[in-house]
Amino acid sequence: MLEIGIVMGTSNTAIYMPGDGIVLFEPTAISFSGDSATGRVKAVGKDASEMRGRVPERTSVVFPIKDGIIIDKRACQLMLKTFLNKLFRLNAVKKVKAVVGVPIGITIEQRKAFEDVCFEAGITECILVENIILSAIGIDLPVHSHRGCFVINIGGGMTEIAAISLSGIVSGVGINVGGDMLDASISDKVLGITNLKCGITTIKKLKDNLSSLYSNDISEDIISGIDISTGAPSSTYVTANEITETILPYYLRVADAASIVIKGLKPELCAEMTADGIHVVGGSSKVAGLDKLISSRLNIPVSVYPNGIYANIVGCGKLLSSPLLMKDLLMQK
Ligand SMILES: Nc1ncnc2c1ncn2[C@@H]1O[C@H](COP(=O)(O)OP(=O)(O)O)[C@@H](O)[C@H]1O
Ligand SMILES: [Mg+2]
Repeated sequence: MLEIGIVMGTSNTAIYMPGDGIVLFEPTAISFSGDSATGRVKAVGKDASEMRGRVPERTSVVFPIKDGIIIDKRACQLMLKTFLNKLFRLNAVKKVKAVVGVPIGITIEQRKAFEDVCFEAGITECILVENIILSAIGIDLPVHSHRGCFVINIGGGMTEIAAISLSGIVSGVGINVGGDMLDASISDKVLGITNLKCGITTIKKLKDNLSSLYSNDISEDIISGIDISTGAPSSTYVTANEITETILPYYLRVADAASIVIKGLKPELCAEMTADGIHVVGGSSKVAGLDKLISSRLNIPVSVYPNGIYANIVGCGKLLSSPLLMKDLLMQK
């Protein structure tokens, strides 16, 4: 039996194989010749994602997960199957057991969609575990202890927040704040102040280079796009301050949602967890000043993990190599 870990996030899909580590980390994307309901698979992952905005007629690029949820089962299943086939010949291994990350607080139908996709992609046994628990395991937090831990994962389509103790979620929430929303709002802001309409790759690059929550950041970046008043290509500067103004309200929503979860905890747990601090992971936690923003607002120490984008997939790997923890987790279900 082959054991693997799979995390299909709104932005990125990752696969872990014991012994090899993270063997795949690519955009959650697939392209078809034709439409996604009947079309033939053209490309998956990075190759498919790069086609966005530049596809010929009769080719479609699909991002099968939105806000953490599978919105196109056929596309998602074909994407996963193609990824798995790149790694090993599915029909050569008889059984594949997978730990699969799922968002916090989803419905039974939405969980079943993750299972269906995995089974249809050739997985024979599927253990669904909340991404936020996997994230905590990935950064070596003591999820099994009674003292517990408090974790935030800010991803592409959503932010997941949870207090975890005795291998289960004591209290938690998923909110629709993530990188996709930041991209859209940065794009609107750039259009508003410079008249430039920019492609998603340009916006993401700008976000990666300039994202900061410090209001006195003086850096700037040059961007290119189409000037909507003339229709001609043009370039201009955007400052870090302009990006900060745009993204700050979203990160404040994350801090406020965490505050609500913390205030709902029982007093001892609240005191213990907050003494140990808040641990922040996920691709969209890579923004300068995030630790200061949350810790000053909540008055609790905050650690942001530089490799936090991999926390949940690393957690899958650690779970696969820890039968005791796996037993503990399964008992909580
Ligand atoms: N250096 C960075 N600065 C800001 N945002 C980033 C950076 N690197 C990645 N991101 C954002 O992180 C998000 C992807 O994070 P990830 O945790 O993989 O999401 P998901 O788990 O939802 O697929 C994207 O929106 C991406 O633009
Ligand atoms: Mg993630």
